Amino acid sequence: MKFDAIPSGVYPELIYPSYKSTLKRGPAQPLLRIRAGQPVEDNLIPSPRILLPNDMDLTAHGHGAPLGEKIVVTGRVVDEDGKPVRNSLLEVWQCNAAGRYWHKKDQHDAPLDPNFHGIGKMMTDDDGRYRFITIKPGPYPWGNHDKAWRPAHIHFSLFGNVYAQRLVTQMYFPNDPLFDYDPIFQSIPDLAARQRLISRFSLEYTNSDKMLGYEFDIVLRGRDATPMGI
Ligand SMILES: [Fe+2]
Repeated sequence: MKFDAIPSGVYPELIYPSYKSTLKRGPAQPLLRIRAGQPVEDNLIPSPRILLPNDMDLTAHGHGAPLGEKIVVTGRVVDEDGKPVRNSLLEVWQCNAAGRYWHKKDQHDAPLDPNFHGIGKMMTDDDGRYRFITIKPGPYPWGNHDKAWRPAHIHFSLFGNVYAQRLVTQMYFPNDPLFDYDPIFQSIPDLAARQRLISRFSLEYTNSDKMLGYEFDIVLRGRDATPMGI
């Protein structure tokens, strides 16, 4: 992707002092443009065959139902013209309803759920649409500063049509009281762009009395681009 395909202020600051780890990992020198060595088309193209039947249902990997609020998340992946990005691989990962990741590095004082590991993947369809079933994640503390709690979020990785196009972003939930206190969310300078990371509650996609629906569209480039790199 060309950097100039993204309006300024949409991607987060690479060094944002309130987000402390960016001080250590942010580039100290100006960025350089490099030419890709090989055409990206040479890379491995993800195939639906790599998906297992329950990969898009994060609630179906234990001996019982996970604790928490079951939800369905759906949306379209589109380019700057609204054209669908078809047959592209998405991965998602998140903490459980209590705000704890299924990962040895997460030792914060919240319970693990043996029925929820928080990892899923899926392909977009011909309309660029993805869909997965999960548990609404909880907020969690992350030690960046006193009372630093992340707003509830789901991490997304988008592979495009080839692995070399990988982008990452985070989806949030409407009306989270932690937005104003989260340096990761705040590191995106453009206020309108920040709002594009917040999913919409959807009665249309709410599944009867089984689960509430949320919609989160992802725009890869252009005026309405979704912030990436967070
Ligand atoms: Fe997270």
